[in-house]
Amino acid sequence: MSENVLLERRGRVALVTINRPDKLNALNIATRKELAEALDELRHDEEVRVAVITGAGEKAFVAGADISEFAGRTAVQQRAVMKTRNIFVTAEDFPKPLIAMINGFCLGGGCELALSCDIRIASDRARFGQPEINLGIIPGGGGTQRMARLIGEGKTMQMVLTGEMIDAQEAYRLGLVNEVHPAAELETKTMEMANRIAEKSPVALAMAKTSVKNAARMNLREGLDQEVDLFALCFSSEDKEEGVRAFLEKRKPEFKGR
Ligand code: COA
Repeated sequence: MSENVLLERRGRVALVTINRPDKLNALNIATRKELAEALDELRHDEEVRVAVITGAGEKAFVAGADISEFAGRTAVQQRAVMKTRNIFVTAEDFPKPLIAMINGFCLGGGCELALSCDIRIASDRARFGQPEINLGIIPGGGGTQRMARLIGEGKTMQMVLTGEMIDAQEAYRLGLVNEVHPAAELETKTMEMANRIAEKSPVALAMAKTSVKNAARMNLREGLDQEVDLFALCFSSEDKEEGVRAFLEKRKPEFKGR
């Protein structure tokens, strides 16, 4: 793969590690490109059913965009960088469940990357923030949008306007993360959940993910209508037959993703 992003397959779960620990895994252009390429590769890998994104080292998940690349950049150049390959949209549109395993600083674009994942599991040492305001800019990777949809406008305003960091317990209290675990147990707990999800039907997982995402993209009536369509579409899969048959035969289903 590449040096900035490591890709490891552990059975049905893939572990994607952003690997610039000496720069707290800050997202420079090369890292963004390699992260998008890693997700592209996993998207088409039928063996992989769930992906986990984390940061290398003990200190950071991702400490944000690489600030050193901001200096001297024009508005037009910056827009091109953000539009060319938007990793946040790439992550959000990844068709399989994506879990952020947050092992440390989760700031700026790092917090936005976590927000673009489906589930966020944090270490008790993790710290969260949208500190862009301190640089005279604002979040540009969905921080004002996805966070407001996840935890509400008032709490997001506080994060974005103060730029202050919060700890993992506070992030849990706000609903920013799903679970918090002692640092030593973070990987085990995250992988346990990833493996539990990986046992489900990949067809149903994809439909479920799309349908839940639609809640933030559509009005209620459109979302409900599309939920019915996606529910019905599951009836075209072999996995649905297997799931129902296994229940009736009192055994564990074996989903094949067809
Ligand atoms: N972009 C580029 N480099 C970064 C970075 C970022 N977002 N975050 C950290 N780094 C680099 C530091 O410059 C330093 O590099 P150096 O050793 O070559 O000087 C290295 O990572 C370690 O960071 P350091 O600041 O020494 O660690 P710390 O423990 O003292 O502080 C933070 C940690 C997270 C509080 C601090 O690094 C920070 O504020 N980072 C920027 C966070 C931010 O504003 N992100 C949003 C960007 S839009």
